[in-house]
Amino acid sequence: MAQNETQYNLRTADLDNGIIIVDDTLSIYHFNKWLELHTKIDEESVLTKKLDEIFPNIKTKTLIRKIKTALRMNTPTFYTAATSHYLIPIKINQFKNSIFEYMQQDVSIIPYDKEKKLVALIIKDQTNMASANALLNSHIEEIKKLNQALIEEQKLREKQHQQLLTSSRSAAMGDMISMIAHQWRQPLSLITTMMANMKVKKELGTLDDATLQNSFKKIEETIYYLSDTINDFRDYFKPIKVKSNINLYELFSKSIFFLKDEMSQYNINYKINIDKNIEIYTYKNELLQSIINIIKNSIDAFKETTLTNKNITVSLEQKTDKIILFIEDNAGGIDKEHLEKIFEPYFSTKSKNGTGLGLYICKTIIEKHLKGTIDIYSDTNGTKVAITLPTLL
Ligand SMILES: Nc1ncnc2c1ncn2[C@@H]1O[C@H](COP(=O)(O)OP(=O)(O)OP(=O)(O)O)[C@@H](O)[C@H]1O
Ligand SMILES: [Mg+2]
Repeated sequence: MAQNETQYNLRTADLDNGIIIVDDTLSIYHFNKWLELHTKIDEESVLTKKLDEIFPNIKTKTLIRKIKTALRMNTPTFYTAATSHYLIPIKINQFKNSIFEYMQQDVSIIPYDKEKKLVALIIKDQTNMASANALLNSHIEEIKKLNQALIEEQKLREKQHQQLLTSSRSAAMGDMISMIAHQWRQPLSLITTMMANMKVKKELGTLDDATLQNSFKKIEETIYYLSDTINDFRDYFKPIKVKSNINLYELFSKSIFFLKDEMSQYNINYKINIDKNIEIYTYKNELLQSIINIIKNSIDAFKETTLTNKNITVSLEQKTDKIILFIEDNAGGIDKEHLEKIFEPYFSTKSKNGTGLGLYICKTIIEKHLKGTIDIYSDTNGTKVAITLPTLL
């Protein structure tokens, strides 16, 4: 009677869970309403039958072992609803995106009647939980994959960055060597000329001590310049260098050191219209390199003209936060179609005599290093180069 009462209670009280009472051979003693509803099997037809007769997929041995353990220990044991495992196959109403075909179940095995070796199997629907878990797992997998892809991409980027650094470094090296070679052409030809002069004079027996000394002094100075040029460019690419106060009149006087001979050869007048005491705080040799390139271009342009009055004039304009240096010639100007290309590396109209690096070097040095700008204006009369340098740095 007591048992019947319990049975009755189980029938009515627990409509949220499935309850089966079986013995340790899996003979069925009770099959509750919840299960009747969900399996469409009524209790009458299963009583005294074995559970694995009705549900042949049940792992008979494991279940019996668990039941016996529960009875022997007189404590409940559990089956957890591992993904896709269930005790009683109950088809789920298939929704479009449902993960499981069968209801996922948690099963508790509770000792019910020790004498008769009966246990109650309480079946809880864990489909929602399992779905959430499965969904979570699939998301975790997805996230792991994405993460992995991200890591791979990161690695690739680092590798590419490294390659870019290496190649830009070697490009910079190449640039540096080209620039040094460019800046060396003038002084090297000066040394060659002076040496040839001395040789001729010696052979004619007209080489006096003063000429010898002067020539050596000039050659020495030129060699210093050559070595300075290497250092400047190396420092420029390093970049560890020192700014100093530069007197601009002196700088422009000095800048024609290698160009004087050519200037007088072609009867070019060089005028420095600058106050003798104006200074600027910047990198001296780099500014010098740029000015030499610009003046050399003017000289080259004069070589193509038949003018009698050839002038290169330098001047400057002081503003509150900058100084603008002007280098102007009347050598006929730059063709309009060329004007937009003159800063490109290797653009030259001088067939074999030009590398086309001069203005490219100027622009690189002035913009990247001196933090200034260079502009070139040209008309049929001549060319005006403006170098703007900041004074508030
Ligand atoms: N003052 C100028 N007058 C006329 N043309 C000029 C002047 N300055 C530059 N150019 C033009 O700009 C071009 C590029 O000048 P850039 O100094 O870069 O190279 P380059 O002088 O040809 O070669 P390199 O400097 O190696 O001797 C020249 O070939 C020339 O056509
Ligand atoms: Mg040039």
